[in-house]
Amino acid sequence: MKIVYVPRDTASVSVGADEVADNFATAGFKVIRNGSRGAAWLEPLVEIDTPDGRVGFSCVRPQDVAGLVDNDFQNNAPHLRDVGLIKNIDYFKKQNRQIFAYAGDTDPVSIADYIQYGGFLGLKKALELGAENTVNMVFDSGLRGRGGAAFPTGIKWRTCAAIEAKQKYVVCNADEGDGGTFSDRLLMESNPFALIEGMLICGLAIGANKGYIYLRSEYPLSKTILTEAIANAYKANYLGKNIANSGLDFVIEIRIGAGAYICGEETSLLNSIEGKRGVVRAKPPLPAIEGLFGQPTIINNVITLASVPDILAKGAAYYAALGSGKSTGTLPFQLAGNVKRGGLVEVEFGLTLRQLIEDFGGGTYSGRPIKAVQVGGPLGSYIHPDEFDTPLDYESFAAIDGAIGHGGIIVFDDTADMAAQARFAFTFCEVESCGKCTPCRIGATRGGEILDDISAGKNVEANFELLDDLFETMELGSLCAMGGLTPKPVRSLLKHFADEFIDKGKVL
Ligand SMILES: Cc1cc2nc3c(=O)[nH]c(=O)nc-3n(C[C@H](O)[C@H](O)[C@H](O)COP(=O)(O)O)c2cc1C
Ligand code: SF4
Repeated sequence: MKIVYVPRDTASVSVGADEVADNFATAGFKVIRNGSRGAAWLEPLVEIDTPDGRVGFSCVRPQDVAGLVDNDFQNNAPHLRDVGLIKNIDYFKKQNRQIFAYAGDTDPVSIADYIQYGGFLGLKKALELGAENTVNMVFDSGLRGRGGAAFPTGIKWRTCAAIEAKQKYVVCNADEGDGGTFSDRLLMESNPFALIEGMLICGLAIGANKGYIYLRSEYPLSKTILTEAIANAYKANYLGKNIANSGLDFVIEIRIGAGAYICGEETSLLNSIEGKRGVVRAKPPLPAIEGLFGQPTIINNVITLASVPDILAKGAAYYAALGSGKSTGTLPFQLAGNVKRGGLVEVEFGLTLRQLIEDFGGGTYSGRPIKAVQVGGPLGSYIHPDEFDTPLDYESFAAIDGAIGHGGIIVFDDTADMAAQARFAFTFCEVESCGKCTPCRIGATRGGEILDDISAGKNVEANFELLDDLFETMELGSLCAMGGLTPKPVRSLLKHFADEFIDKGKVL
């Protein structure tokens, strides 16, 4: 039977992949629902096998299927939607894919496919090394948390491993709240076993036998795919008791969030899993020492955990040699907003922002000049074109008052209203604040009001001074990064686009 691959991830399904798959099935094809390769601009990217590798057909709509079949697309007859061999597409060729290396090649819930591409070799190595050396391996790789704060993963694991406790937990932060980010979702929907294997290795390393995946409610398809993958892992004895006859026990449960951005903050997340209101906890104690249900807990982002199997399988030195300086390894950046070729781009740290948005992104979707790019989510800075040659690594971005965060890149063209973006930063904080501390709860509201006054031309100079005071109060006095970082995007907008904040029609 003729085989055709149609991706099953959220982005592809949102542009008709399910209907495309149904139409191919009706036309007599065997349809394999593979994972997406993350090039959202090509989805649904339908593929067929050829002796030279997979050939792709981009942006296939349900109504295109009959034409493709009539046109004998299986035998490589020329077609408008033919994008040639996948391995020759520049967008993929120029990436250095580690955790997304086989995304798209496999059926995401097939353990056999995962193993065929080297799956569970990291776990095998960790079992050989034992807990302490596994932690050392992660430490030596230089891996830093991909959820936003970039904290060294090895240090966190070492802290937790050193605590004696009857019960410890591994918690995966899959809340992915930053607008324009989707690497966690894509990983869970295209390569979920990498996350499961990463959690297993973490459990082995710190001495935990239970894991939770805290998944945002807005990702129902991720839940479906993860649930299938977890069930298959249990069946194949990669979860449960005495995993792969190693003596290791580990179980995973999925917990669904309820739409609160703050529940991505690790201590709110723990409260939410415990069934409490998602309010930030004061630190110390660190979750690694006293976390979920009061027990030592590792909380890591999806991408952090999914990076671990490769580190174990290929070695710490291999991983540490990738990237730039203290930013080792690769990061799956996510191109979104007004960009021609939106999607996931996994590259080593050190590529410049310009290379990312121009070479991969192809500039703006509108074709107009780029005005600014927000990097690192809603709490990240807006980067001006003058700074586009900054290398994408943690230190270089910190040096320009920016942050890489979770790797979200949102592109704006020259029609964007930057004062409105600044207003949005305060509105976002006002809506999403957990309300525990005053600088954030009240500061966000006051900040928005001050910006409104400035826009209306009221006491502009005095209000700018007041805004500066407010920034300081929020930065120094907030309990967590929600309030502490809200001034960051606003400061960057004021630095580059101050003239847009004042209504030119008003007398100042
Ligand atoms: C307001 C706020 C929201 C956050 N949202 C997320 C999130 O959605 N996903 C995530 O992985 N980390 C998020 N974080 C970071 C987590 O608190 C924490 O640093 C992370 O889960 C640790 O994992 P890592 O070391 O692997 O990055 C957020 C932090 C703050 C302050
Ligand atoms: S900074 Fe905001 S979100 Fe964080 S604890 Fe304070 S009120 Fe809650």
